[in-house]
Amino acid sequence: METISFARGVPAPECLPVEELADCAREVVERDGRTVLSYGPAGGYEPLREWIAERHGVDARRVLITNGSLQGFVFLAGRFAGGRVLVERPTYDRPLKILRGLGTEIHTLPMDDEGLDPDALEDALRTGPKPAFLYTIPTFQNPSGCTLSNARRRRVANIAREHDLLVLEDDPYGLVRFEGEAAPSLFQLAGGEGVVYSSSFSKTIAPGLRVGYFVLPRELEGKLEADAVSTYITPVLLGQATVYEFVRRGMFEPNLDRVRAMLRARRDAMLEALEREFAEVARWSKPAGGYFLWLDLPDRVDAAALLARSGEAGVTFVQGADFGGAANTARLAYSFVSPMEVREGVRRLAGLVTPVAA
Ligand SMILES: Cc1ncc(COP(=O)(O)O)c(C=O)c1O
Repeated sequence: METISFARGVPAPECLPVEELADCAREVVERDGRTVLSYGPAGGYEPLREWIAERHGVDARRVLITNGSLQGFVFLAGRFAGGRVLVERPTYDRPLKILRGLGTEIHTLPMDDEGLDPDALEDALRTGPKPAFLYTIPTFQNPSGCTLSNARRRRVANIAREHDLLVLEDDPYGLVRFEGEAAPSLFQLAGGEGVVYSSSFSKTIAPGLRVGYFVLPRELEGKLEADAVSTYITPVLLGQATVYEFVRRGMFEPNLDRVRAMLRARRDAMLEALEREFAEVARWSKPAGGYFLWLDLPDRVDAAALLARSGEAGVTFVQGADFGGAANTARLAYSFVSPMEVREGVRRLAGLVTPVAA
């Protein structure tokens, strides 16, 4: 029996625009090979930098394109090593590991269906040393799938301004929206001041290109670029130029529509299957976009123990504890598997959970 993976937060292979990217890559090497195959500016491929800058209404010098946005996180967090950082609970596990490795004091803020709790943010700012920054994923969060409500966005932006708190808004999923109106980013609400905005083409085009970016406040502009130079001299210009060619040809929006439709079908399959199999037993988030949802099992169910037996059942997921969540929680990714596999995977999961939860 082949294991169905709800653990892999990656796009299914059929979501990747392989042929189109092959064509774009060939074109940029033929047209601009002497630039993209050499060392170049640490901030990234200039035409893409300008395109990103225009979308965010900033000067191109404030845009740093990195080899994936996680690399930019490493640069930023490294600047504040040993300080205190506020994060959501739960939150994306890789930044947590990076922060721990840097000896950061991690202060977690509780979340609910509307995202992080602004009262808890205020409390954290009133007590303890001034944090270096707040790390937040306000839209279709990894791991919970939750989105910060519009009212809370305004409060968080106001609190940050009042307390002169630097915010890192990590937004790789914002464009992967299945329904509803896009919420304003914290970066927009703050008028582009005091918020570092980061995003990536990993979920909108392809993660293997490794093209992520940061829109920086002026005070960090040159500094992170210096970190980039001393880490890799030049980012992967071929990947960046390929992304630029893809957007220049007008392929970005149609590809997004295609990806959204594929992911929406997977999300719908998962919500329907959960309703069928888990209605009496568990609660789960209902994401309007992104890759993940969060499963809250009864208190007596230990997700780690389930995971230990999940191999035999032919389904896998990530325990919520890896993201700082409670022992009875799990992250389910619907991005990697087909709607049919989603239905079968949830059925297998129910076979594991129901005897324990009864
Ligand atoms: C919230 C979040 N930030 C950043 C990343 C990393 O993105 P990239 O591929 O651009 O490094 C991910 C990838 O899963 C993510 O979920």
